[in-house]
Amino acid sequence: MAHKLALIGFGVVGQGLAEILLQKSGELARQYGFAAEIVAISDIAKGSLYDPNGLDLATLLAVVRETGKLDSYPDTPTLRRGWDSFQTIRETNADTVVEVSFTDVQTGQPAIDHCKAAFASGKNVVMSNKGPVALAYRELAELARKHNVQWGFEGSVMSGTPTIRLPLTCLAGNEIREVKGILNGTCNFILTKMEEGMSYADALREAQRLGYAEADPTADVEGYDALYKIVIMANVVMGVPLSRDEVSRQGITQLTPADIAQAKAENKRWKLIARAKKEGGKVVASIAPEKLPLSDALAGVMGANNAITFDCDLAGPITVVGAGAGKTETGFALLIDLINIARGQI
Ligand code: HSE
Repeated sequence: MAHKLALIGFGVVGQGLAEILLQKSGELARQYGFAAEIVAISDIAKGSLYDPNGLDLATLLAVVRETGKLDSYPDTPTLRRGWDSFQTIRETNADTVVEVSFTDVQTGQPAIDHCKAAFASGKNVVMSNKGPVALAYRELAELARKHNVQWGFEGSVMSGTPTIRLPLTCLAGNEIREVKGILNGTCNFILTKMEEGMSYADALREAQRLGYAEADPTADVEGYDALYKIVIMANVVMGVPLSRDEVSRQGITQLTPADIAQAKAENKRWKLIARAKKEGGKVVASIAPEKLPLSDALAGVMGANNAITFDCDLAGPITVVGAGAGKTETGFALLIDLINIARGQI
């Protein structure tokens, strides 16, 4: 039977998932026995729709593309409009909430409350928002367990590049002693462009134009975005509690063209490195620019790409490189959580 999804938010990421479901439904059914339909969408700006029999994806995507809103989606005998996020979460016949609302990363809201409402209503949640995982991982994981539902958040770090399920499943049995990575695409893009001779301001503008940067790019260039991601890694992957206040943080704004040229002359390259290391039962974590030798696996990661190295006691260092953002990539991150919920093994 098809999984019934309620999308809270229908911005770039939600539309990315809808496009994937529309384009790949045949293949997903054939290859994985996976089927999902969207029964509800509640978006604070675009409006809300609920049809217990399922919404038509092609029509949904077309009306949003053409009008920016959901209002002109055609009526059906079972269609209801105007439900807010909490009514949608609590009262629709969805089994899974896709939480992709516009959320303040500093408070994790409204996504944290959406998760709580969904779990209490017996619904699974998949999400790509970082805030709830970084700020309330233990509380929410416990709540999901208590209500016997699943919570997936693969897309919260490095979008669809597997940084959470991969260590938790494929590297199980190892002690992960250190996680270090390039977890912010905007900073890596700026550093790459500066090495090619572009100014910091032009490179940041280009990152904004290409959609890598957060709404307020201070979160990127001052290291806050990477900080939330390393907090997620420590809590979820290394299994050690770490709060955001415990992470030392420095961004890339103090790096000058001269620093970058100097590194190049030394066969080195500046990268903004997020690091979490186990030290005596605790995790010590930092975000800081580091001058890496070109032989380092992370030094060759260029442009908006992200990368992460897991230092494992049995398997040794394992590095994963890939996209850290993007409509389809993050849509895929939600899909892989949904597929794993359907497999019963998130
Ligand atoms: N602004 C983020 C980045 C997007 O540049 O990596 C993904 O979290």
